[in-house]
Amino acid sequence: MSTQKDPQKAPKKVTATTLQKMKVKGERISMVTAYDATFARLVEEGGAEVILVGDSLGMVVQGEDNTLGVTIEDIIYHSRAVSRGAKRAHIVADMPFMSYQADPLDALKNAGRLIKEGQAHAVKMEGGKELAPIIRPLVQAGIPVMGHLGLTPQSIHAMGGFKVQGREAEAAARILEDAKALEAAGAYAIVPEGIPVELSRVITQALSVPTIGIGAGIECDGQVLVIYDLLGMDLSFKPKFVKRFETLGKTIPEAMQSYTDQVKSGEFPAEEQTFHTKKQLFGPRELVMPAPIDVEEEDGIGGLHEVPM
Ligand code: KIV
Repeated sequence: MSTQKDPQKAPKKVTATTLQKMKVKGERISMVTAYDATFARLVEEGGAEVILVGDSLGMVVQGEDNTLGVTIEDIIYHSRAVSRGAKRAHIVADMPFMSYQADPLDALKNAGRLIKEGQAHAVKMEGGKELAPIIRPLVQAGIPVMGHLGLTPQSIHAMGGFKVQGREAEAAARILEDAKALEAAGAYAIVPEGIPVELSRVITQALSVPTIGIGAGIECDGQVLVIYDLLGMDLSFKPKFVKRFETLGKTIPEAMQSYTDQVKSGEFPAEEQTFHTKKQLFGPRELVMPAPIDVEEEDGIGGLHEVPM
C-alpha cells in the first residue's frame, strides 16, 4: 500500500465531533480568531483546528472600544470571507450583543443566518444558565452552540470593565454551575475567559465537552487568542494573558517605511516590476495623450473626458 499523500484529496474537515474526540484523547485544541479569507488560510496553514469569527472584530477591525456595536451583518460578512479562505478548519461565528439575549426566536433566526449566509459551522454566545432556553432550540435545529463564560466582554458595563471573574468562592461556584448548565442545555464546547486556572481545571474536569480557554490558564482542553494579539499588531496592548508569537506591530511599519522610501526615491517599481509594449511603439520621452471622450460634465464629478479608452 502506498504511503504517499494524494494531493487531490480534500483535507479532513474539523467538526464538533473532532473536538469532542480530541478532549477524550487529551489532544489540545488550537483556536484563533480570523476575520478575512487571507488570515483564515494562513491560520489554517499554521495548524489551528478552529477559527473564531469573534465579535472582537469590533475592536481590532472596526476600532471601537468594546464589542457592543457589532451587528449580525458584520459577523455574516466576515464569516463568509473566512469560509472562503478556510478549507479544513471548524468555523465558529460569534453572536453579537443583543442578537440572542432578548428572544429565543430572534436567537434562532440570527444563528440560522450565521450558518446559512455566513457559512459558519457553529455559533458562540456569552452567558451562563440564563442561556439554556436559548441554546436548546438552536441545538434542536441542528446548530452547534459554543458557550462563553467568566469574563464576558459583552457584559463590560455590568462587570465594570475587563476584570478577572471567579476569584472568590461564591463567584467561582456560580461560574462552575453556569458551565454545567450550558453543557446540559446542549453546548458542544465552552470558552472560559478571564478566570483563575484553579477554576478552569475544575470546570474542565467536570464537563464532558471541551473547554477552550482565554486568560484561563493551562488546564483547559484548548486555547484561543485574538490573532492580532498573538501577532503583536498593537505594541501598546499587552494584557497578562496574551503571549506575542510575533511583533508585526514593529515589522509592518518597517516594511511600510521601506516602501514609502523607495516610492519617493524612485527605486520602486524597478525593471523587474515593469511591463513593456511588445514592439517599440514610442520614443523614450514621447507623451501619449488620450483622445478626449465626449461626456457632459456632471456636478461634483469634474467630467470624465480624460479617461483613456
Ligand atoms: O470575540 C472574540 O474574539 C472572543 C474570544 C476572545 C474568545 O470571543
